[in-house]
Amino acid sequence: MDLIIRRAMLPPSVAPQPGQPLDIGIEAGRIVAVEPHLAAAAREEIDAAGSLVTPPFVDPHFHMDATLSYGLPRVNASGTLLEGIALWGELKPQLTQDALIERAMQYCDWAVARGLLAIRSHVDVCDPRLLAVEALVEVKRRVAPYLDLQLVAFPQDGVLRSPGAFENLKRSIAMGVDVVGGIPHFERTMADGAQSVRMLCEYAAEQGLRVDMHCDESDDPMSRHIETLAAETQRLGLHGRVTGSHLTSMHSMDNYYVSKLLPLMRESGVAAIANPLINITLQGRSDTYPKRRGMTRVPEMMAAGINVAFGHDCAMDPWYSLGSGDMLEVAHMGLHVAQMTGVEGMHACFDAVTVNGARILGLEDYGVAPGCAANLVLLDARNPVEAIRLRAARLVVISRGKVVSRAPAARAALSLEGRPAEVDFKLHRG
Ligand code: FE2
Repeated sequence: MDLIIRRAMLPPSVAPQPGQPLDIGIEAGRIVAVEPHLAAAAREEIDAAGSLVTPPFVDPHFHMDATLSYGLPRVNASGTLLEGIALWGELKPQLTQDALIERAMQYCDWAVARGLLAIRSHVDVCDPRLLAVEALVEVKRRVAPYLDLQLVAFPQDGVLRSPGAFENLKRSIAMGVDVVGGIPHFERTMADGAQSVRMLCEYAAEQGLRVDMHCDESDDPMSRHIETLAAETQRLGLHGRVTGSHLTSMHSMDNYYVSKLLPLMRESGVAAIANPLINITLQGRSDTYPKRRGMTRVPEMMAAGINVAFGHDCAMDPWYSLGSGDMLEVAHMGLHVAQMTGVEGMHACFDAVTVNGARILGLEDYGVAPGCAANLVLLDARNPVEAIRLRAARLVVISRGKVVSRAPAARAALSLEGRPAEVDFKLHRG
């Protein structure tokens, strides 16, 4: 074999025998064995020594065309979603393909170092030059040997509201973009929003594509485009291929209405993506007090059988000045905002940045089982809860069977079991 990872603890959601350390055998970029004591030799062995080995983090919602552009051409003074969209509009005419590629490649480097090996990125298709589309298709090609990058054709200014946007969207699909996007709540009227959902879903059905719409990213409880999205999914037989991103208005919807909405979403197989860092930052922005948290109903959707994942959404761009590609930070924020502090809830938050996102992207060879792609992350943590608590170091990141990143351990000083290292005492005591 090429590589064996010994004594790995797997997250319960992917472990064939939870609680038991396992050896993982890797050959030619694939996992070929997962068993307690693998009687084989390999060219390289890594001893996990009981630490957590997980399939990689998945970010199902990101904007790679805007990333790392913080401060260009100015910062978002109000910090609102609408000023962010206006600021992005100011930046668009100044974008060059080289700069877009450079920033996206830098972000992909950060992602790999954090064990984030699959990203679904929206790409704005409203500029008829489609510079960002060309740039991200090129980035997708460059990172393909080590990172799954899926692109969504995203009409940021509204597919109906922005002249030529639907044609641009179709052109971008022909150029190699994978998924149909939309933004119904940004159209001029509720009726236009619903019409945009119908039109985009019909196009996706014709083309055999997946759909992922920014949907109801608003504090307005009457923003109910998710209902239309679920109904269209059912009508067109798109079950399992459609995702509603953000869905923040749901935090303020009438409870009776939601009791009808969630079963419709489950029956249509529509998945949901919350973006905790961004939702807690942008939503409820015009509230005084009480101030709404702004994230959609994550535990309630999970309990209703809807697949819910967490996305990073933004990193150092017109909407968000922080972020570093760390999906454990995303899970950490999601866990707090959704008050998912029970043991099951914390594990569900880990799944929301790993397996749940993989299902949304349709990553068929994702997981820790023979036949899966050998994409794995050894974390400096014993279990998913500790990984979230510490935003644990990614000790080793493996992509397609090759080690692509290593980082030093830090857990010993931060665990109940391990005493702080001597060096720390010396530092603190001067
Ligand atoms: Fe977004």
